[in-house]
Amino acid sequence: MLNKIRLWKNQNNSSILRDKIEEIKKSPIPEHVAIIMDGNGRWAKKRALPRIAGHHEGMKVVRKTTMLANNLGIKTLTLYAFSTENWKRPKNEVDYIMKLPEEFLGTFLPELVENNVQVKMMGYKNQLPVHTLRAIEKAMEETKNNDGLVLNFALNYGSRSEIMDAVKQMISDSKSGKLSEADLDEQVFSSYLMTAEFPDPDLLIRTSGEIRLSNFMLWQLAYSEFWFTDVLWPDFNEEHLLEAIEVFQKRQRRFGGI
Ligand code: FPP
Repeated sequence: MLNKIRLWKNQNNSSILRDKIEEIKKSPIPEHVAIIMDGNGRWAKKRALPRIAGHHEGMKVVRKTTMLANNLGIKTLTLYAFSTENWKRPKNEVDYIMKLPEEFLGTFLPELVENNVQVKMMGYKNQLPVHTLRAIEKAMEETKNNDGLVLNFALNYGSRSEIMDAVKQMISDSKSGKLSEADLDEQVFSSYLMTAEFPDPDLLIRTSGEIRLSNFMLWQLAYSEFWFTDVLWPDFNEEHLLEAIEVFQKRQRRFGGI
């Protein structure tokens, strides 16, 4: 009997979710959603589990979020998985996070391929362990002809370094005559960033109640809408993403106009 009630509840919940998705699709969907996935450590601590258990649970949420983003017609989903500052964490935690792309892609790559998702990565590849990079590059290669959602992992990414490197490259290009000061504008500057191929995020989500950017896409988020939630990343679910998009759809974006 209990099982029957549970089954009925699940079916009821998924039909409510389906209706909500259809309703949301009637209004403009943000093209690029960026997420600072925060709160894995606190989620684990609340359950007296090691921090890495929170990261593992967080990885499962990446899958659900990706599938819903794809279903909604979001074009790019950028996920802040590891910052250039995260190397300061204990070695066992860093090692664990660096194994997650392998586990995630080892399990879900066929599903991503089947659902037309393209995997990409932005960040400094040189410092990544070989096994991490290999998993990401394999996924990028196997999904390169897909034209659905771009799942863009920000891995070993830091916005200030990205901007500094862009400036250095521009100086070098200007010295070699490839770039003249007269040509330099915001669009050209953007083309030197790791996000050159993507539009700026329309919506930034940060979980876990922290209200800061933590060196994430500082240039690109200039006109993005922000949505913060106290929900810890491992508890973030489809309804939360839909709520963020509903709030986004009600906002008036003026880009400095009136
Ligand atoms: C921040 O929470 C989270 C991270 C630094 C790691 C995020 C990684 C994942 C969600 C998994 C990524 C999955 C793939 C496939 C790459 P925190 O540890 O700072 O949490 P706390 O603030 O509660 O301590």
